Amino acid sequence: MSKILLGVSGGIAAYKAVEFVRLAVAAGHTVRVLMTASSRRFIGAETFEGILGSPVLTSEFEKDPLRGSFPGEQLPGHEPIGHLALVESADVFLVAPASANTVAKLAGGQADSMLTTSFLACEAPRLVAPAMNERMYLDPATTRNLEVLSERGVDVIEPGSGSLASKGEYGIGRLPEPAELLRRVESALNGDLSGFRLLVTAGGTREPIDPVRFVGNRSSGRMGFAVAERAQARGAEVILIAANVNMATPAGVTRHDVETTSELAVACEDHIAGSDVLVMAAAPADFRPVQVSSGKLKRTDDFLELRLEATEDILATLSNRAAAGQTLVGFAAEHGGDAEARAREKMARKGVDMIVMNDVSDPRIGFDSSVNAVTIISSSETVEVEIAGKHEVADRILDSARLIHLKKSR
Ligand code: CTP
Repeated sequence: MSKILLGVSGGIAAYKAVEFVRLAVAAGHTVRVLMTASSRRFIGAETFEGILGSPVLTSEFEKDPLRGSFPGEQLPGHEPIGHLALVESADVFLVAPASANTVAKLAGGQADSMLTTSFLACEAPRLVAPAMNERMYLDPATTRNLEVLSERGVDVIEPGSGSLASKGEYGIGRLPEPAELLRRVESALNGDLSGFRLLVTAGGTREPIDPVRFVGNRSSGRMGFAVAERAQARGAEVILIAANVNMATPAGVTRHDVETTSELAVACEDHIAGSDVLVMAAAPADFRPVQVSSGKLKRTDDFLELRLEATEDILATLSNRAAAGQTLVGFAAEHGGDAEARAREKMARKGVDMIVMNDVSDPRIGFDSSVNAVTIISSSETVEVEIAGKHEVADRILDSARLIHLKKSR
């Protein structure tokens, strides 16, 4: 479950933030709350602290008794800088309610409280739920401030219409119900890939020895196909490059078939420029015969010597040329021993943002298996995905890749 940072600013709708926290905790998330000074005139910090069992912070200078950790986490040994530590470990930051004043500060990049400094330093997905009187909401100053936030990738949650706090007034400006806020937060965390362009490779390449024989590997392509299928179902535009995969193309996915590592390299080069995320699930053959016989080699009674040369490392080449906002995901099939350390080394060597590692010495997860168990490794986290269907594993891979990409493209 996820770590939600909630910023509460001054407004009567602050009482709805309490219900949000209660629902979020009931759904299994952990929450830390930052309140502006004026929000404390509407609701007490003790209310949140009672529900969460963790302190609320208001000033950027105040010491955090939890040292930037979330409830249930181990406290770091040192005293970190408060507004940097909390946002670094948060998975998402929601400001609800966001008053006109707080919206203006966030749009202007001001940093004069724990809430505003944290918001500015936050690389996780950020959501802002404005709630105020209709005239304040519709004033061009507020409209423009919200546009500025949207342009910077902040998810602005439209307020609802109905009766407003001031007696007899009716209009737009109501904070959405807490369940709706939680739904928006959860979809920011897990879900929606619309607007994402994914390039996925799958299968194993084959390097011809002669017209009927090849050097290849046992990759079935099932994991890459599952990633392509789930990404498309979650709204992404997906191009799938399949190397010798005998499976139907997932609906809505554009497929290109290749055979050899160099064909795979060319196809990747052709499509990488328009992609936000590359998921390199294919297993390219690492060696190819130096000479390919044009006729079928005859059987001999003693030895046939094959001289092999290394193929190009596609991922390493692509990462050298990747644009700043592109996210590259590699796979690492490791065999026993300190598999995670080797995968980390591979992540650095290939210059990728994330590595999906599986330990192929585990007998439960064969090459052609419909299940998998992986460790997702990035510079910010290590996620163990216990044995599960390849579609579920695909979703977990996409969740992590999506968060990394959102952080990178801020
Ligand atoms: N890969 C690639 N080009 C190659 C070989 C591998 O792009 N010629 C990619 C794979 O698609 C995978 C990642 O690199 O995403 C790691 O592949 P792996 O076979 O585990 O790594 P190798 O480079 O072969 O390294 P080693 O032999 O040291 O395990």
